[in-house]
Amino acid sequence: MAKKVVFVCDACGYETFKWMGKCPRCGGWDTIREFKVDKAAESQEKKSPVIVSDDDITEERIVLGIEEMDRVLGGGLTTGSSILLGGDPGIGKTTLCFAIAARMVELGLNVLYVSGEESLKQLASRRKRLNLNGNFPILATNQLDDIIEAASGKAYDLVIIDSIQSVYNSSLPMLPGNVSQIKDVSSKLTMAMKSMDTTLIFIGHVTKEGAIAGPKILEHMVDTVLYFEGDKMLPYRMLRAIKNRYGPVDEVGIFQMKKEGLISIENPSQFFVSERGDIGSGSALFPYITGSRPIILEVQAVTPKTNFSIPKRLSLGYDVNRLFILIAVIEKAIGKPFFDRDVYVNVTGGMKVNEPAVDLSVAASIISSLKDIAIGQDTALFGEVGLTGEIRRIVYMDMRIRECERLGIRKIFCPKGIEKVQGLEIVPLKNIRELYEHLL
Ligand SMILES: Nc1ncnc2c1ncn2[C@@H]1O[C@H](COP(=O)(O)OP(=O)(O)O)[C@@H](O)[C@H]1O
Ligand SMILES: [Mg+2]
Repeated sequence: MAKKVVFVCDACGYETFKWMGKCPRCGGWDTIREFKVDKAAESQEKKSPVIVSDDDITEERIVLGIEEMDRVLGGGLTTGSSILLGGDPGIGKTTLCFAIAARMVELGLNVLYVSGEESLKQLASRRKRLNLNGNFPILATNQLDDIIEAASGKAYDLVIIDSIQSVYNSSLPMLPGNVSQIKDVSSKLTMAMKSMDTTLIFIGHVTKEGAIAGPKILEHMVDTVLYFEGDKMLPYRMLRAIKNRYGPVDEVGIFQMKKEGLISIENPSQFFVSERGDIGSGSALFPYITGSRPIILEVQAVTPKTNFSIPKRLSLGYDVNRLFILIAVIEKAIGKPFFDRDVYVNVTGGMKVNEPAVDLSVAASIISSLKDIAIGQDTALFGEVGLTGEIRRIVYMDMRIRECERLGIRKIFCPKGIEKVQGLEIVPLKNIRELYEHLL
């Protein structure tokens, strides 16, 4: 069999046709290794262009019934697609995939769960703890050949690989988890499964150092990239699509992590707001739109006095450059600079908000903290703040108002031009100065 030789960097996956002492991409020394690629495997047949008619498109979906997962995928699992599920170790990837596998069985579909991380005994006790209905076959191995053999023996609808870092091709000299191994294993598995129209889920751990070298290199190879995130100390997890060939990328799935497994949270506003309890100054509610649905979030600010000549400005979940601009705008509007104050802003629940619509609630929480006046639990704010302090109109204002109403919010500060809503006090604002006067 003809073999082509390529050289691949162990650290970053850079490919070249000649050996080099130093990788030109990542700068690593002595990281480039020789690799033999089967030419026969690369191109089995000559391909020629074809015209695809509409009748050839058969995009079938499996609706899992795990609402938040279906939502993020864009309406269920597309058959024959490949998915990368990335996330920190311990975040709940295995737990989520166990739930998916069990659902597939319940739906009468064939699924194979491959684990290279845990023993059969560990996996069985995990299954018992999670109290899942469907029982699915598990293959505990980390050999690529075993997986391909097992998956070829039966027509599986879904194969889950837990995790891509633990599986390796023993004919390569590198250790499992190495970039070259990940590349080789994932491309062989993707090709094998695509030819059988089997859906494939790769679990990938994202570690601090591995963030680039690990699953990242897989991202262009798969159809969908999902990241599972959240603070391990908090009970909720967010599933986010970073790339999706079969659906939107701004949709967020929210789960609650319990001992018995992950539970879909279909009503996230209630979840985030009910955590608030009694609120003091420096807190404001904001109806955020992510994907197709609104979620009410809490924006918090604290503005302690500082003795340093350069005050601190820090922000979690809100763009820090926008914070600098917003502070300048507020200072101008209220006619008093606050260079003697640090400003810290946080969007609770670990959400990252990149909509300009959040500006008004950030401004309100800062003013509320500065003046030590509570805004109140029944008040929400939205609107973009311009450089001259004007409050600008934003998208989906109706949807936001409806969500506020649904959660029992009584008062809404917003841009001008919104029609009156029965039972709601709408406060249209022209600029930040007006907000300041209303809050005082
Ligand atoms: N035996 C157990 N008993 C109780 N909780 C567990 C057990 N095993 C795991 N968990 C919980 O489930 C979480 C997610 O675990 P897991 O799904 O294995 O994460 P990942 O696959 O992303 O590394 C853990 O952080 C832990 O809180
Ligand atoms: Mg795991």
